[in-house]
Amino acid sequence: MRKKFIAGNWKMFNAPAATTAFMSAFTASLADKADVAAALSDGKIAIALFPPFVSLQPAIKAKGNADIIIGAQNVHWEESGAFTGEVSVPMLKEIGCTHAIIGHSERRHIFRETNEELNKKIKAALKGNITPVFCVGELLSDREGENTFAVIKTQLVEGLKDLTAADFTDKVIIAYEPVWAIGTGKTASSEDAQEVCCFIRDEIKTLFGATAADKVLILYGGSVKPANAASILSQKDIDGVLVGGASLKPDSFIEITEAAL
Ligand code: PGA
Repeated sequence: MRKKFIAGNWKMFNAPAATTAFMSAFTASLADKADVAAALSDGKIAIALFPPFVSLQPAIKAKGNADIIIGAQNVHWEESGAFTGEVSVPMLKEIGCTHAIIGHSERRHIFRETNEELNKKIKAALKGNITPVFCVGELLSDREGENTFAVIKTQLVEGLKDLTAADFTDKVIIAYEPVWAIGTGKTASSEDAQEVCCFIRDEIKTLFGATAADKVLILYGGSVKPANAASILSQKDIDGVLVGGASLKPDSFIEITEAAL
């Protein structure tokens, strides 16, 4: 049984003060939800938040003992050096981060990150014991041109190059985020999301074998809200969600977490 992984990507929202306020409200409501608390302690679900870099330490401090994973939205592949504006894996480790989003569509399309660069980031994360949450997803033009599967396949083959089956036992998470569904209010139907997540699992099987495919957590992201979360999370190959806008308010993020139960 794979656990459900409920993740919030805050993008460039929630500065340190807002992060601290979020965490105190969120941990207080978590403490009131016995079902969520039990699922967390049984390892049936995991909750993760990805604040901006400056809010990572405030988030880690404010969460206290609460069982919430804190991760970064990006990371560089070198450990240190002349890379103005970048943050490395050892830096994230030192402050207590355990996960990093790699290849979010905004990094791919606004900041022009390539599959080759993302592959270097994934390998650096694994080497430094940071779990990569590797994002893949097609543009609307890819979907309309019936190229969805070809695009996702290239992103997987090039992004995951040189990884081994062992990397998939709890160490790599994949997020399917159709670019046309991000921040647009247009969610993929649960069936469409399932179809692509199933394709991703099959590709992982081809590339890394059946055990890797069985273990890897595959998330869906793109306009996930409390109202659609349960239907998305009930799909066979969808192990969690990567939530943008609806993760910014403690109440809606808690509701999405409950939908996983
Ligand atoms: P959204 O963002 O939920 O606001 O569509 C999802 C994401 O970009 O990860």
